[in-house]
Formats: sequence, structure tokens, C-alpha cells
Amino acid sequence: MKTILILNGPNLNLLGQREPQIYGSTTLADIDAQIRHRAMRFGAQVDVRQSNHEGELVTWIQEGIGRVDAIIINAGAYTHTSIAIRDAIAASKIPTIEVHLSNVYAREEFRHKSIIAPVCLGQICGLGSMSYLLALEAAFNINP
Ligand code: DQA
Repeated sequence: MKTILILNGPNLNLLGQREPQIYGSTTLADIDAQIRHRAMRFGAQVDVRQSNHEGELVTWIQEGIGRVDAIIINAGAYTHTSIAIRDAIAASKIPTIEVHLSNVYAREEFRHKSIIAPVCLGQICGLGSMSYLLALEAAFNINP
């Protein structure tokens, strides 16, 4: 059975109340439930986590080595700033898919650059919680 680690970065715990005009009314718990429901259909095991701390995300990526088959990450604002998360993804060699709820390319210019994108397999953004579900399907199907 495949194990997929799903990591959420800073402020994503506030989904539902955070800038609903951008992120909608779906909470992280709702997204978590959708992911678990979809994973059950695939027969995949998911480990869903959220942290506001860069180092904790780095540690979780490192701990995924030899334990998980793929990572799906919404690094939140760390997407645009974190060399440490990028290095952890590269060092882990775990196939990683970057996701965003919003279309970062339709927003402020500082969101157009992802520091982690070059070390990720691919990126899915702008589709709300569907970004996670599509990434789950991709993660499940890589290296079948
Ligand atoms: C986000 C986009 C980031 O630019 C932002 O900092 C977030 C959320 C998204 O899912 O759309 O926190 O990753």
C-alpha cells in the first residue's frame, strides 16, 4: 500500500476564516476529510499534517525518507521564501508535488516565484481543494 505524506504550511490552519474571497470557505478539516475519502478509494494511506514552523516541515520531510512514497506539499508563504524546505525535498529524493489553493500567478508578483518548484515533480494550483485531490491521484500513480 502506498503512503502519501500531505504537508500544509503556515496559516493554512486558518482556512475557512482566512481571506475567504481568495481561499473560500472550505476549512483544512474539510480538505483533510476529502483527501481521506479519496485515498480510501485508491487504497492509499495518507498522513496529513500542518505546521506554522519551517523547521518542523523540514523535519517531517526528512522523516519521510524510506517511510513515504510521495509528498504533496502546500508550503503556504514558505513556497516563496524557503531554501530549507527546497533543500529538504531535494535531499529526501521523495517524489513531491507542490499544490496551492489559489492561482498564485494571478496574484501579487512575489507569489509568482516558487523556490520549491524546481525540486518538485510538478505543481497544481488555483483549483481550491481539488488541487490536493488531483495531486493525490498523480502521487498515487507515479512509479506504480
Ligand atoms: C497558498 C498561496 C501562498 O502564496 C500563500 O502564502 C498561502 C496559500 C495557496 O494555497 O494558495 O499561504 O499556498
